[in-house]
Amino acid sequence: MIFDTHAHYDDEQFNDDRDILLNHMEDNGICTIINVGASLDGCKNSIALAEKYPFIYASIGVHPDEVGNLNEETFAWLKKQCEHQKVVAVGEIGLDYYWDNESHDLQKKWFIAQLNIAKEKNLPVVIHSREAAQDTLEIMKEYAKDLTGIIHCFSYSVEMAKEYVKMGFYIGIGGVVTFKNSKKLKDVVSEIPLERIVLETDCPYLSPVPNRGKRNSSLNLTYVIEEIASIKDISPEEVIRQTELNAYTVYPKCRKNIS
Ligand code: NI
Repeated sequence: MIFDTHAHYDDEQFNDDRDILLNHMEDNGICTIINVGASLDGCKNSIALAEKYPFIYASIGVHPDEVGNLNEETFAWLKKQCEHQKVVAVGEIGLDYYWDNESHDLQKKWFIAQLNIAKEKNLPVVIHSREAAQDTLEIMKEYAKDLTGIIHCFSYSVEMAKEYVKMGFYIGIGGVVTFKNSKKLKDVVSEIPLERIVLETDCPYLSPVPNRGKRNSSLNLTYVIEEIASIKDISPEEVIRQTELNAYTVYPKCRKNIS
């Protein structure tokens, strides 16, 4: 079945129909969803969703745009949440030099601190990196050596993807791969083994073609699966099967749910 490794169902865009939508996931072949926290409130809401739905798990972390809200107290709170049985990863964490909401030094400081939480709690990480390829790689090489996880919404070169694969990381592929102008990402999918690819929506954002621009949900992953299958010249069923296995390897705390 389909494993969505990165979603934000706590987003207000789902306020009107969240429960109806989530109750239909299983009928549509979606077995597991990781709801990813990006802010402190997002972490709380992700845990609440995970407590409500057996097939939802939470990843908790503070996005680089939001690290201004971290301090000793909130950081200690974050660390404590990792002990929750349905918290399966630390993220999304990383560097974002596109929005540049916080200084690079502050982003780096909290990125490293959160990588250290993952090490201490023995959890995988979900990495957000935008227009910060070199600094992210340098930090990962120094502080994420013993970790695994997902480079979410991958937007860099084939060479960079291969670097992360070599380090034991997985590449998150979502709606962007269906965009006409996404040749670079299609090349990444073509060049790295299927054994290193996981599916993600980042919903409500990044809806694939033909629903580009509309609110995204895990139900749209079929378009992403078809695109990966076509690039790799394999069946959609093979894409679903292997990416599900990969996701359970990254998030071992979800394994009791294996289909
Ligand atoms: Ni996200």
